Amino acid sequence: MAFKENFLWGGATAANQCEGGSNEGNRGLANVDLMPLGEDRYLVGTGQKKMYEFDEKYFYPSLTAVDFYHHYKEDIALFAEMGFKTFRLSIAWTRIFPNGDEQTPNEEGLKFYEEVFKECRKYGIEPLVTINHFDCPMHLVKTIGGWRSREMINHFLKLCKVLFNRYQGLVKYWLTFNEINMILHFPFVAAGLYFEENENRTQTTITAVHHQLIASALATKMAHEIDQENQIGCMVAAGSYYPETCKPEDYWQAICDNREVYMFTDVQARGYYPNYAIKWIEKRNAKIPFEKEDKEILKNNTVDFVSFSYYSSRVSSSDESKGKQSESNIFSSAINPYLKTSQWGWAIDALGFRSTINELYDRYQKPLFVVENGLGAKDTVEEDGSIHDDYRIEYLKEHIQAMKDAIEQDGAEIIGYTTWGCIDLISNGTGESAKRYGFIYVDRDNHGNGSYQRKKKDSFYWYKNVIASNGEEL
Ligand code: BG6
Repeated sequence: MAFKENFLWGGATAANQCEGGSNEGNRGLANVDLMPLGEDRYLVGTGQKKMYEFDEKYFYPSLTAVDFYHHYKEDIALFAEMGFKTFRLSIAWTRIFPNGDEQTPNEEGLKFYEEVFKECRKYGIEPLVTINHFDCPMHLVKTIGGWRSREMINHFLKLCKVLFNRYQGLVKYWLTFNEINMILHFPFVAAGLYFEENENRTQTTITAVHHQLIASALATKMAHEIDQENQIGCMVAAGSYYPETCKPEDYWQAICDNREVYMFTDVQARGYYPNYAIKWIEKRNAKIPFEKEDKEILKNNTVDFVSFSYYSSRVSSSDESKGKQSESNIFSSAINPYLKTSQWGWAIDALGFRSTINELYDRYQKPLFVVENGLGAKDTVEEDGSIHDDYRIEYLKEHIQAMKDAIEQDGAEIIGYTTWGCIDLISNGTGESAKRYGFIYVDRDNHGNGSYQRKKKDSFYWYKNVIASNGEEL
């Protein structure tokens, strides 16, 4: 049997894309609430357009999302029906500390997640909690500029302390920052960064990266001190870069592009900035803002496991004009003529998943946790209410087979697998609802209209059997 008996099969979500209930429970305003639907979303997400207040010209999809806030019991019951062993969700920071800088946490927010975790436990589902999934209190963005400020570390640790203490015994698997490398591509979303016109953008980004890496290491330390049972993971948006051709320059470009992914996990899993990262930063006229104890903090507090998202492989070309021909999860890439793409143009590459798993396992020799994988596609509800998403089943089948090969044939160690958006949710990249990943359909359109009723897709029954057979029947 390829998968160990206790393999954690499940699904993943994030508060800002799933929860809604933004005006309830004394919740504060977050950066991600201000991400509009439509063309300007990209400009806001990359820190090029300032959106610190709501503007009535725009629609903001995260405010209601798919209303997990009110449907969580029903949703978790559906996950349990599929046989989930784990459910990944994130904490909305502003439910716990509405402004981020209060001294006392908001009890209503704490209670909400406590109920959610208890509901999971009722069915034997292990919660997998992302402490920070693209989420920063707007008050901290406005007053201290988000993660550019070192003060963010203390605000974050205050949040962690409350979470680790309050949920001790309920939660054991934690991820510090979702897709920590996304800060290079979507800095307002990942770190609350908006750039002023003459600002040294690279310096600000590197400063924010360093603050997140220190915060992640100190959170790891704290989690272990509070409860030795805690298992802490880093999380990176992975997907190997292939060279476009065997031309040495293309191969070199692929090495450089892959390093922009690994330089984060290298610090979190190995405990120090690798030389190539230091040079990368120096070449861009920036500096890592080290303080006295930082190197020790990084060295002594590496993660227990390495988690990652995988949707696509990517292609590097030494011809700069080709490097931006295609897009996958906000990362630009050259086109891979050997692969089919999704309706959103993301390359579909199951063998690339096996390669990525192998690269990460070879590099770190730590257990891996696949915490996002899946296909964003449009679904059609038939007259009788059924949804035949065979394209999604096909994608997942090929990818689970690739993961199985990585375990069985290559010896990789994997703790679990959570598909992204196990219930339909809001797309991070586009803000659409039409880009659906779920086994469970949610009746909601791009503008938030609909009954929010849940329906099982064909993939629901298929995944249920995958889990029941522990991955033997795909
Ligand atoms: C990852 C994120 O980037 O990919 C998720 O962790 C995101 O938040 C997912 O939703 C898929 O991307 P998209 O743009 O299709 O939602």
